[in-house]
Amino acid sequence: TLPNILITGTPGAGKSKLCEKLLERLEGDWEWQDVSKIAKENDCVTEYDEEFQCPVLDEDKLLDFMEPIMKKGGNIVEYHGCDFFPERWFQGVFVVRCNNTTLFDRLKERDYNDKKIASNVECEIFGTIYEEALESYKEDIITELKGETLKDLEEGCKKVKDFVRAWNRK
Ligand SMILES: Nc1ncnc2c1ncn2[C@@H]1O[C@H](COP(=O)(O)OP(=O)(O)OP(=O)(O)O)[C@@H](O)[C@H]1O
Ligand SMILES: [Mg+2]
Repeated sequence: TLPNILITGTPGAGKSKLCEKLLERLEGDWEWQDVSKIAKENDCVTEYDEEFQCPVLDEDKLLDFMEPIMKKGGNIVEYHGCDFFPERWFQGVFVVRCNNTTLFDRLKERDYNDKKIASNVECEIFGTIYEEALESYKEDIITELKGETLKDLEEGCKKVKDFVRAWNRK
């Protein structure tokens, strides 16, 4: 069996890009679970936050939906938060980080409103998601990765690969 990996970080930091690359590069039968997409497709959304232009998750329903998937292992789970998943789901947690100018440009390109851009850039400056990871998982399974350049993408892939290799040896 394979471990479950969490790829988290501020919106726009580069999680999806890394997940795509990991699917190409990792050996074995991995599945990418994009939590926002799963929530939308399976009616695990309670309302829409107009101010921040984002759906509000029905966390309990989502967790129930994901539980049997997670039991199988081999999932690369992507989400811009990490504190509501059961700790036992993940053997490796990776937090993708991005500098604020690059992040700002990426979010601007998505046509997010100013408030949403500001709150996300602030979230990244304060390292909010990394803090959230530290509060939710053991420090020794958390790794910070950069998601700014293609070189970062290669390095990120390598670190995840190293993690999987080490996990297999256990
Ligand atoms: N390592 C990288 N090098 C260059 N460009 C990148 C890198 N990572 C991401 N990007 C670019 O930044 C943008 C946002 O990346 P991505 O969609 O992966 O973010 P995300 O963290 O998955 O966001 P969300 O939380 O909304 O899902 C995309 O246009 C992507 O191509
Ligand atoms: Mg994404």
